[in-house]
Amino acid sequence: MPNFVTPITLKIFSTKNEITDYFNRKPVKVIGFVPTMGALHKGHLGLIELAKQQSTQVVCSIFVNPTQFNDPKDLEKYPRPITDDIRRLEEVNCDILFNPQVTEMYADNEKWHFDMGDLEYLLEGKFRPGHYQGVTQVVNKLFNIVKPDIAFFGQKDYQQFMVINKMVEVLKMPVKLVMCPIEREPDGLAMSSRNIHLTPYDREHSLILSKALNWVKENFDINKIDTLQQQAGQMISNEPGVELEYFEIADGKTLHHATPASETIVALVAARVGKTRLIDNVLIS
Ligand code: PAF
Repeated sequence: MPNFVTPITLKIFSTKNEITDYFNRKPVKVIGFVPTMGALHKGHLGLIELAKQQSTQVVCSIFVNPTQFNDPKDLEKYPRPITDDIRRLEEVNCDILFNPQVTEMYADNEKWHFDMGDLEYLLEGKFRPGHYQGVTQVVNKLFNIVKPDIAFFGQKDYQQFMVINKMVEVLKMPVKLVMCPIEREPDGLAMSSRNIHLTPYDREHSLILSKALNWVKENFDINKIDTLQQQAGQMISNEPGVELEYFEIADGKTLHHATPASETIVALVAARVGKTRLIDNVLIS
């Protein structure tokens, strides 16, 4: 007998009530959640596949969250290919898509502040002031709506993972967080929804980010952190069309500059490649 796998029909909800009613009527054992801003690529689909292995039902949210953008132009040009995204979610047998409008998520003049300590101002926080307030604001809302047992995030946004982890700990939210490794193109570029903005020239020069990170990993010596950081930053600054924002070899727990006492070390980079801002990182130990 041929072994037919019945495809799952993707349920699409755009309001909080719809998703709450659905789970009230049909309680499930383990809700896995993959929050996204859409323009889904292999990295997101990998998160959904992992979520499927660890959950009874998987919810993916697509919501381009205005409060985490400090540049209105960046928000405006953020890609929103919803028809393609739905097709991709169907292909990986995702169970539920939550795709709300801004008015469903936010009341006018809503206030939010979460004390995340230094994490708010270091690295990404320095170059994107207020970004992590917006991220925690929306993820808090999404967790309260979806009520996931496990939520899956990509390692590419390493600092974001740490910030959300801190929120979950401080607010004692009953959700387990899973960080999944970065998905890369065959030539090393970290997958990102923003990559579609790269011109062929940018695309070629963007490779310097992953090259510099790998160079640091391969040549890592705990006593040469400053030199390695400085040289990797220089490699990137020398690349045509690339403007370095930061290259930091950091303690994986605090994101302060790494020291020989650091248990985990991560190298993180952000740069503008043409008009596109890219981030990437590599775990060193
Ligand atoms: O990583 C993202 O795509 C977003 O920051 C998130 C977590 C979905 C919040 O808007």
